[in-house]
Amino acid sequence: MKDTKLTVTNELTAPLNDLFGIFFEDINHAADGGLYAEMVQNRSFEFAPIDNSDYQATTAWELSDPQSLRVADKDPLNTKNLHYLTVDAKQTATITNAGFNSGMFYQQGEQYNFSFFVKALNGTQEVTVQLTDDSGKKIAAPQSITVESHQWLKYSAQFTAEQTTTTGRLVLTFPEGTRILVDMISLFPKNTFNHRPNYVRADLGETLKDLHPKFLRFPGGCLVHDGQLDPDNRGAMYRWKNSIGPVEQRPARRNNWGYNQTLGLGYFEYFELSEDIGAEPLPVLPGAHDPHHDREAPIAQLGDWIDDALDLIEFANGSENSKWGKVRVALGHPKPFNLKYLAIGNEEVGQAFFDRYPYFHKAIKAKYPNIKLINTSGPFAAGAEFERGWKSARENHSDLVDEHYYTAPTWFLANQHRYDSYDPKGPKAFIGEYASKKNQWYNAVVEASYMTGLERNADKVGLACYAPLFCNVDYKDWTPDLIFFNQSEVSPSVNYYVQQLFMKYQGTNNVDYHLANVPEAKVIDDGPLNDGLSPQADGTDVKFENIRLTANGQTKQFKGQSLSEKQTIRVGSTDADDYEVAFDVTKVGDEPKGAHFCFGEQDLDNTFTWVLGGWGNTDSMIRTMTNGMDTDWTQTSWTMNKNQTYHCQIKVSGRHITTWIDGEKMNEIEIPPFVVQPMYTNLTYDKKASQYYFKAVNVTDKQQEITLDTDLFADGSLYQLTGLPDAENHLGMTNQIERRNVPFSGHQFILPPYSVSALMSTKQFRTQ
Ligand code: AHR
Repeated sequence: MKDTKLTVTNELTAPLNDLFGIFFEDINHAADGGLYAEMVQNRSFEFAPIDNSDYQATTAWELSDPQSLRVADKDPLNTKNLHYLTVDAKQTATITNAGFNSGMFYQQGEQYNFSFFVKALNGTQEVTVQLTDDSGKKIAAPQSITVESHQWLKYSAQFTAEQTTTTGRLVLTFPEGTRILVDMISLFPKNTFNHRPNYVRADLGETLKDLHPKFLRFPGGCLVHDGQLDPDNRGAMYRWKNSIGPVEQRPARRNNWGYNQTLGLGYFEYFELSEDIGAEPLPVLPGAHDPHHDREAPIAQLGDWIDDALDLIEFANGSENSKWGKVRVALGHPKPFNLKYLAIGNEEVGQAFFDRYPYFHKAIKAKYPNIKLINTSGPFAAGAEFERGWKSARENHSDLVDEHYYTAPTWFLANQHRYDSYDPKGPKAFIGEYASKKNQWYNAVVEASYMTGLERNADKVGLACYAPLFCNVDYKDWTPDLIFFNQSEVSPSVNYYVQQLFMKYQGTNNVDYHLANVPEAKVIDDGPLNDGLSPQADGTDVKFENIRLTANGQTKQFKGQSLSEKQTIRVGSTDADDYEVAFDVTKVGDEPKGAHFCFGEQDLDNTFTWVLGGWGNTDSMIRTMTNGMDTDWTQTSWTMNKNQTYHCQIKVSGRHITTWIDGEKMNEIEIPPFVVQPMYTNLTYDKKASQYYFKAVNVTDKQQEITLDTDLFADGSLYQLTGLPDAENHLGMTNQIERRNVPFSGHQFILPPYSVSALMSTKQFRTQ
């Protein structure tokens, strides 16, 4: 076997800028019950069935006596915070909050800041506040608070925990005869991240800072645009102006992930957080369009939405003499936040958004030409909606286009060269959401291999971030995720360490280098897309008729099928490389669903599927299932009407798939062969640290070696991640991969099986 040799020409090439960052969304209780350090759940009695059908105004509270305690709305704290608790104690009454997870995490010796708003109805009253565990055991010395104001007034107290518990409770006791109104009952650890009030959990904030992200995309994806147009509607899209100012004046909001969002962690806090972790803020604003409900503001009424964008830029960057700059200064941040990026829309699908985007773009660029504007290309890696987004970006000269994909590792391996052919002159790609479907080490290593390709293409790829970021393990909406936690523990996933390596050792520029004698890449799958043919129901009743296969010049007819639920029947198969399948399909059920037709089906876990009416009957897609992991390769918007018969055709030519419905082309995609390279590498230089970083990824089970024909790393250091392919971190089992940070000398660089490495130079080799 010949030596693989690295030679470095040492020419600096494309700048990497802010390439690798993070994306925060309040999904999986990432904000409330997560990053936001508030320990009380439902602190202002605003939970409601619109958030979640199981919620009501006293969710997470236990009331001792419903006769004495009830939620009312006649005399609210303010117009944005309508519900409060009326206490009219016929006898001693208590209310107990259970916090999140199994309860509050009280730590011995730590201090906790309690506050609440009260209006006393009949003179001076005493309220006792206690921190206990779930058995009622005292955790801190109880405190008695005298309340006497006949106006709503805030009272506070500080506690020091004498014991540690993860089943903490907050208990308020009202003696018999108490008549008061209570709202915004809050408890924060004194020790928040960077000791800011109304802020972020210290451990989770540190976990983010340790990533060294270059940017923070916030406050969400679907969370931003799934909602009503009226900003005062409880189910409104995320409107940033609702999320700043005194927390008690921020309206509670329906979180589209099925819970309640207090907005306690709002835009001001996100800007502070960006600053605290050294990341560029990258807000996502709704583009007056909700693709989830086909809802959009009339073009004549875009003014408020565009003003929201202009005002946000002024809020972030304006001087204290500007209207919104003054608001920022009053909130305690005299210096500008230096906002550089702004995204309009998230995963937008449909012409309505793209008819509106130009209005935002023109108005923002006219006033703030230096703001980098981000357009969107929908939730799929290819297809008609994806192309629509890119077309809009090119026509409008957007700076970046947000691409999203959640796919199997095979897709990432097959798409290593996706960005090689992008136009360096055109808008840059922003991979605003991606992940490879599992939190196992193999997936993380494959993500690392893909990230070397993103780095290599930094002249075409501007920004990239994994998604989602956080998951409270007791409230999972979506997996995989980057960081798992509960109320007391944090467990970064194995994927986290890959992201961290790439952020920490990103560098400022690519460097020209050459690898000679690289072993042959291994072709895992370049076979034809043939095998079983199976019509399939997808959650509604469907009828397949006239199913025909044409291959090798012959046409075979199969029996029609009436299917329901997830029923599937293999009607036939083919071993031809080129073939055509035709069928008629009719949806007879009522559910907002469609049907599937599987082809090239080896088994249920390994198949190609034409999805007709996927994602709530909105799409036609080509999907692969590889070892049980699905990938949507291409998408076109399409809906299957009930009782209408569609004539459908699939043509497979080698690895090329084309579909038609009633003669109209729907999907077209070339499925590239699945090839595994023996190593994936990239070399960068960091002008600030005067260091070279050589990253190398081995996704195989064989050790690889590189001879370094350069002295750059002869006296350097090595950061290396290795693990078993199925290694996974969990709470309580946080170190399932090995992380080595060791000196490196010599010229022989070993890449163990399933490894991700960064070699670092320590000597000064350049002057700039
Ligand atoms: O990251 C989770 C979700 O995935 C985001 O909200 C959305 O943009 C995408 O569909």
